[in-house]
Amino acid sequence: MQIEQPFELVLFGGLGDLALRKLFPALYLLELDKRLPFGCIYAVGRRGYKSEEVKEKVKQAVFEQISPEYQDDDCWAVFAQRLKYIRIDVQDPKAFNVLSRELDEDCPNRLFYLATASFLYADITINLDSNQLISPASKIVLEKPIGHDLASAKAINKTVAEYFDESQIYRIDHYLGKETVQNLMVLRFANSIFESQWNQHYIDHIQISISESLGVEQRAGFYDQVGAFRDMMQNHLLQLLCIVAMEPPSKMEPDAVRDEKVKVIKALRPIEGKDIHDKVIRGQYGQGVSEGIPVPRYRDEAGVDDQSQTETFVAMKVEIENWRWAGVPFYLRTGKRLAERECEIVVQFKEIPHSIFSMQHKEAMANKLIFRLQPDEGIRLQLCEKKLGSGMNVRPMTLSLNPDNPSQDYMRSQSSGREPDTNRVRVPEAYERLLFDALAGNPTLFLRDDELMEAWHWVDPILAAWQDSDSTPEPYTAGTWGPAASTLLLAKDGRLWNENN
Ligand SMILES: NC(=O)c1ccc[n+]([C@@H]2O[C@H](COP(=O)([O-])OP(=O)(O)OC[C@H]3O[C@@H](n4cnc5c(N)ncnc54)[C@H](OP(=O)(O)O)[C@@H]3O)[C@@H](O)[C@H]2O)c1
Repeated sequence: MQIEQPFELVLFGGLGDLALRKLFPALYLLELDKRLPFGCIYAVGRRGYKSEEVKEKVKQAVFEQISPEYQDDDCWAVFAQRLKYIRIDVQDPKAFNVLSRELDEDCPNRLFYLATASFLYADITINLDSNQLISPASKIVLEKPIGHDLASAKAINKTVAEYFDESQIYRIDHYLGKETVQNLMVLRFANSIFESQWNQHYIDHIQISISESLGVEQRAGFYDQVGAFRDMMQNHLLQLLCIVAMEPPSKMEPDAVRDEKVKVIKALRPIEGKDIHDKVIRGQYGQGVSEGIPVPRYRDEAGVDDQSQTETFVAMKVEIENWRWAGVPFYLRTGKRLAERECEIVVQFKEIPHSIFSMQHKEAMANKLIFRLQPDEGIRLQLCEKKLGSGMNVRPMTLSLNPDNPSQDYMRSQSSGREPDTNRVRVPEAYERLLFDALAGNPTLFLRDDELMEAWHWVDPILAAWQDSDSTPEPYTAGTWGPAASTLLLAKDGRLWNENN
């Protein structure tokens, strides 16, 4: 797929945290790979900056994020020529005149990227329309979380849908842009050995965990209003769950994939009433030590209400009511100030029914397939092998397939009999892939409106129950794996979180 040229990318929230840390580095890397055809990028913000100041600020942010081998001043000079800063308060309809003057009314490929808080999405859309900036060829990208509950998400969707057709709307969840997530689909649907095992007959349970060692950093104002459940669980973790659990789509086409994902969300067993207490754990970090440094409790972070009840941790047990997954629990977990920064999907296969070998730790011998999304993306399969030497002792061994570092690719080197390929291939960042897809008009890895609504529909009772209850998040020490109740959630089922790799 190609990006149609010329293109115009209008980035609302153009100097915000997301734009500087993720979107501009991704766009620069596309430039470096010569995948951006002729086109302009307009960064929109409220603050008064001169264009040269903005270019310097963006360059600094981009070069901070990418490794030195990709910091190329010549490429930057080309990229900087595309970049322009536009000062607009998006709640002021008249201010959009400035944008109207800049944009080329005949541009065939105009993308509006909304990297602001979602309560501004309706204003932005209405003001774009009243300034005649939307054409049938325009597209709009909406950052997550869209809304803060089902009603607000519906209201945003309704307004945006008045001006953009569903085919023009790209709801982004950047976890779907990660190489390993796409590899998960390939592994499942291009290999009969895995797909034939991918069900309740062979799989004991699945864990999906996104942990951060950082606290709220500069985003306290936003985070304290949102919390871990809306920021991570309602979108990233549910989307990963869908990719792991969906039925094979008939084609690798946008609606075929999204049809299967939405069926998974519809099949989630509702968590309501007493189940909320039993199956959903929320926590808030207290003071502790993170990566060797003493850190304050959440409520003492700058910008956080000192009485805040916002959860910085959520763990939950989720069940899918269909033939494939009946009786297979999915344990989901996310939080800030945890022991490590990592994102993993762990598919834990059942133990063998009968062992003919002496195994000291039989449970450690069950096969595991681990998809690691961060920090070092890769896939590992845990198997058993004979321990070298006399006797028939069995020990765990791991086959790894690591896209970031082919030299560690044990499987490829073993199977080909050749030396591992040490020519590193740059693994595209998630936003790079998704920005390219949005500019090129490929919505496969973006959410459709019904997926988003079904997700909110499923989480809404949990959020409403927390709102109405006197219960508060359980405290946990910063730098640990969360509250004790999270360990108990699995221990009650005779299981453990996968924490020591
Ligand atoms: N940061 C992340 O890692 C991340 C990850 C995934 C999703 N997201 C989502 O991305 C969106 C942006 O997050 P963020 O962290 O980048 O937030 P942020 O750092 O607070 O940036 C928000 C931007 O919006 C602009 N803005 C706010 N009100 C405006 C107005 N009335 N008119 C024009 N511009 C306005 C601000 O511009 P001024 O500063 O000039 O006022 C600022 O640049 C949110 O929906 C968030 O949930 C963020």
